Amino acid sequence: MSALFQRNLQSSLPNVVKGEGNYLIDETGKKYLDACGGAAVSCLGHDCAPVIAAIKEQVDKLCFAHTGFFSNEPSEKLASWLVDHAPRGTGAGRVMFLGSGSEAMEAALKLVRQYHLENGEPERCKVIARKPSYHGNTLGALATGYHETRRAPYDPLLRETHYIEVPYRYRMMREGETEAEFSDRLAKQLEHKIEELGAKNVMAFVLEPVVGATLGCVTSPKAYFKTIRKICDKHGVLMVADEVMCGMGRTGTTYALEQEGIAADITTLAKGLGAGYQPIAAVVATQKIMSVISQGSGKLWNGHTYMSHAVVAAAALAVQEYIKSESLPDNIRVRGQQIEECLHSAFSEHPHVGDIRGRGLFWSIELVEDKASKKPYAATQEIAMRIGAAALEIGMMCYPTQGCADGIDGDHVLLAPSYTSTEDEITTIVAVLERAVSAVLGD
Ligand SMILES: Cc1ncc(COP(=O)(O)O)c(C=O)c1O
Repeated sequence: MSALFQRNLQSSLPNVVKGEGNYLIDETGKKYLDACGGAAVSCLGHDCAPVIAAIKEQVDKLCFAHTGFFSNEPSEKLASWLVDHAPRGTGAGRVMFLGSGSEAMEAALKLVRQYHLENGEPERCKVIARKPSYHGNTLGALATGYHETRRAPYDPLLRETHYIEVPYRYRMMREGETEAEFSDRLAKQLEHKIEELGAKNVMAFVLEPVVGATLGCVTSPKAYFKTIRKICDKHGVLMVADEVMCGMGRTGTTYALEQEGIAADITTLAKGLGAGYQPIAAVVATQKIMSVISQGSGKLWNGHTYMSHAVVAAAALAVQEYIKSESLPDNIRVRGQQIEECLHSAFSEHPHVGDIRGRGLFWSIELVEDKASKKPYAATQEIAMRIGAAALEIGMMCYPTQGCADGIDGDHVLLAPSYTSTEDEITTIVAVLERAVSAVLGD
């Protein structure tokens, strides 16, 4: 009998005892190829020696010193690194470190509120986000995102958020519509929503640059984010990019929005930042935010006990240095192309794979009952979950989710392999996924 409050009390999980490269090994000796980094976290595999050494070294020097009294070197260096690598437009920004993506989203929302109060616009308190999206599981973050099943039990506790749709090409682009028209139609939803709510009441627009868990690696049409940036600027609405999942190299660049040619006002980062070696998240605020606060109260109003923990920051700094010293962005590019090609050759003709989408080392396949009409499977069939279970049985972890078609139905399986993946590992990942799909849906 386990005393651990695990996610599922009706089944028992294998005990993992060791990490070896991009594999995890359980107590029976079974090896699992980690094709999803857990949830897009473990981007350097499970035994990266320089990161582990940096953690040990920092533990020997200093673990915790409260940020009310002290700063520390690893956090200072990591903050500078993140500002130096931020998209143009960030300027002399600043960074705060927290423990999880949800905590970072809460802190980002509170920072937005602080900015508007210090900027003399106290009436700005409404948040617009996109539906579907996932921004975390604490009450504020859960209220901001729209993941139907994760929200449902807590709905009465959640503050009101306003939504526009995600430009989800596969299901939302109209027959005969060009990419530019599609982009414009969806971006304009933001303008209309701001006008409906009254621009002076809106504090932020929150978005995932590449939608992760809820839709499965959905990128936006080319001009979309530039239009969104202009609309936010025109109405004094802050743009908050949730890069918890898609940032830190996952989609090919340190910041996902870099590829869209814009910078958000506030960016949250997490999973790939510490690569799972330590739990860390960050909120990056641009110079625009910082100058209002420095000329105002000069204080960060939102504090947490474990902010800027020295060991955690040392680990994340070592992760980023390793990514750079090993030229892993090049590997992400090459392996990203490989996985795209392999997925297309394995699944393009498959009668139940409706869409293959993604960027960098962040890819999903969407499964449909009928390819011509894009009819999803009923959620009760649990197609994605069964594919995930079949892959695990073979010895590979992938990330299955439901709800992409309408919040309840719609199955997709997400892959987020390590940045250190080899050619053979990528080939194996797609081959195992093919076997798992066949095991559930036939050849
Ligand atoms: C885009 C996004 N934002 C926020 C979160 C919340 O992060 P955490 O689970 O670390 O609280 C997640 C987690 O999956 C996420 O994918």
